[in-house]
Amino acid sequence: MPGYDPVRDLRDSRNQSNSETRNSAQIEEDRPERMVESPITQGPLPNGTDQGAIPKESVTHGEGSMEPIAYQPTYRWSEPTTILTPMTIEEMERRRFRSKNPLRHKERNADESVGGRIRPYAEFNAENGSVAEHYNKRQNIDREARESSPIIPLKRFNNWIKSALIAMYAQPALGEHAQARVLEMGCGKGGDLMKWDRQHPSILVMIDVAEVSVDQARERYESGRFRWPASFFAFDCFREPLSSHIPQEILAAKFDTISLQFCMHYGWDTEEHARVMLENIAQNLRPGGTFIGTTPDSETLMGRLEAINSEAELSFGNENYRIEFEHRYEPGEKPFGNKYHFWLEDAVDDVPEYVVEWATFERLAEEYGLKLLYRSRFDQILADGYDKPRLRSLLERMRVVDPEQVAETGEVTPAMPASMWDVCTLYIGFAFEKVEL
Ligand SMILES: C[S@@+](CC[C@H](N)C(=O)[O-])C[C@H]1O[C@@H](n2cnc3c(N)ncnc32)[C@H](O)[C@@H]1O
Repeated sequence: MPGYDPVRDLRDSRNQSNSETRNSAQIEEDRPERMVESPITQGPLPNGTDQGAIPKESVTHGEGSMEPIAYQPTYRWSEPTTILTPMTIEEMERRRFRSKNPLRHKERNADESVGGRIRPYAEFNAENGSVAEHYNKRQNIDREARESSPIIPLKRFNNWIKSALIAMYAQPALGEHAQARVLEMGCGKGGDLMKWDRQHPSILVMIDVAEVSVDQARERYESGRFRWPASFFAFDCFREPLSSHIPQEILAAKFDTISLQFCMHYGWDTEEHARVMLENIAQNLRPGGTFIGTTPDSETLMGRLEAINSEAELSFGNENYRIEFEHRYEPGEKPFGNKYHFWLEDAVDDVPEYVVEWATFERLAEEYGLKLLYRSRFDQILADGYDKPRLRSLLERMRVVDPEQVAETGEVTPAMPASMWDVCTLYIGFAFEKVEL
């Protein structure tokens, strides 16, 4: 599928000049343990040495004894503008409990897996509940467990794709302002925190409909000791305006970048929900700011459905993924609400999604002052990124491609089985720029 990006050259040159002023490590994915500076002490602190992020000695002093505690805010939990009083001991304890109880999420997920594995597609049914319920049930696992996922090559590739979109289309918009403001809609468990950290935001606002995921994102942020403030909100941003949940102080200044990763397809059930989503983006993005995202490619989805020999058969996939449509529509017949069920090994268990028909999306986006900058399927983004030295080196560091294999074959193919590549090539990445209407 040909990638088309009429302003790529312009972006590339902006990106180039921008990146020269930044540290080369900024697009490096999943840095190992690092040293961070305390914003107050200015001294280096080993990252992750205290997952709760509250110095132990500031909480209790020995069995039963509660000495008066001086207000020494080594770390803030909220933006300076919103904190009025020091946290109470109970609040601190509640946070410690939330971050550290390893059983909490295990209990919640006790029935989710069979023999430690996600149940196969056939054992699930669509009545499992809403999208929020599905994501609330998914276990929060540590880095080591994440690395042992059976689809780790795919997850690494998806992470690289998001880093590439950020480097190509968020970084230029963020770099224009000293106050770089980022909004992530459908943030999940905060898997992109490190990616945003490299952009040195002045604030990151994260929203997800799944409350448990938002809690986990907040915990990840708190234990990461990032040097910029973040705010977290749990609500459905395809049904409600941002202003109904996010305080006006936060929304007063518009965002430079809004990101919607692997999420939009849950909101394409009705035109009304798609419009709420676009309204939320357009109203809160500054002119010149960028909206980036990833979603399944409608052409590829419909093409694979079309390729099935039997008219009666509505499902396709392989050992890593399965898609089952509810109906077969003619092209253009169902711009919203074309529903299918998606199962992805070790990630998504039969969750209803909707085809985001590209032509409809682009037309609607334009109505809201969002002008298309870039749209490419993931295989094309890989090709585009391989041409950029920094993104290429990130590909190699993240072990998405094997440089020896590329040298041998002369082809840029990712190091993963063909069945996983079939999943990757279902998706597109895109970028829009907000223009004055
Ligand atoms: C596949 S996950 C992607 C998470 C994250 N963006 C990432 O790339 O890792 C999709 C996320 O979208 C969230 N989501 C779905 N519908 C939503 C809605 N209407 N409002 C906010 N979040 C939503 C889900 O709860 C889930 O966390």
